[in-house]
Amino acid sequence: MERILLKTADGSHTLHIPEWGEQYHSKHGAIAEALHVFIKEGLHHRMALHQASEICIMEIGFGTGLNAFLTYLESEKQDTIIRYTGIEAYPLGIPEIEKLNYSTLLKASEEKFREIHKVPWEQTCEISPKFELLKKQQFFSDIKTEDAFHLIFFDAFGIRVQPHLWTESIFQAMFTSLKKGGILVTYAANGNARRAMQSVGFSVERLPGPPGKKEMLRATKT
Ligand SMILES: C[S@@+](CC[C@H](N)C(=O)[O-])C[C@H]1O[C@@H](n2cnc3c(N)ncnc32)[C@H](O)[C@@H]1O
Repeated sequence: MERILLKTADGSHTLHIPEWGEQYHSKHGAIAEALHVFIKEGLHHRMALHQASEICIMEIGFGTGLNAFLTYLESEKQDTIIRYTGIEAYPLGIPEIEKLNYSTLLKASEEKFREIHKVPWEQTCEISPKFELLKKQQFFSDIKTEDAFHLIFFDAFGIRVQPHLWTESIFQAMFTSLKKGGILVTYAANGNARRAMQSVGFSVERLPGPPGKKEMLRATKT
């Protein structure tokens, strides 16, 4: 599928898919969305609840690696080891990655951003002493992990274009993958997605959303 580089409202890039009229991130700000949904309401929330020496995260839709990069940058500020697993069926090519302006806008190392992309798939790699990365080329429907993660960044394409990824069977796999007390955060606030999460046992909160979005969801395996 064709992908076009697009600048979002905060100046950060995303990829636009003309065939679907869909983006990898919010048009109201890719970095702003990622910082709000995944870092603030996900990582910071989890860290405030449990001061653990390590935290295991699974990302649903590794894509441009923006969430992984922001999480790596957070790990540099914290005393916590982060073990990050990114799931992605359709990895981007390096030429596409090299056009993204995240490291410039975040005043962070472009070399590290590229390293996150260049390390091999299916192998656990040490990006830094506090950030370990495992990228898995896999369909979300094939995820079979159990009791493994403290936090899930659920960043699939929207329910309008991929409704089958917002169903009970996917959220059941997410629930099973989480440890007790584990948390899933997503930018979406759709009622059907929320009810699918609740039906598999999650307690779901509606929280203020990132720029341009009224609400987002945070689900806890209580
Ligand atoms: C919204 S984008 C992810 C954005 C990403 N977190 C980022 O920061 O760039 C959704 C991602 O899910 C991937 N994807 C779509 N359908 C999938 C499936 N069935 N299984 C695994 N990956 C899928 C896409 O290739 C895309 O990278």
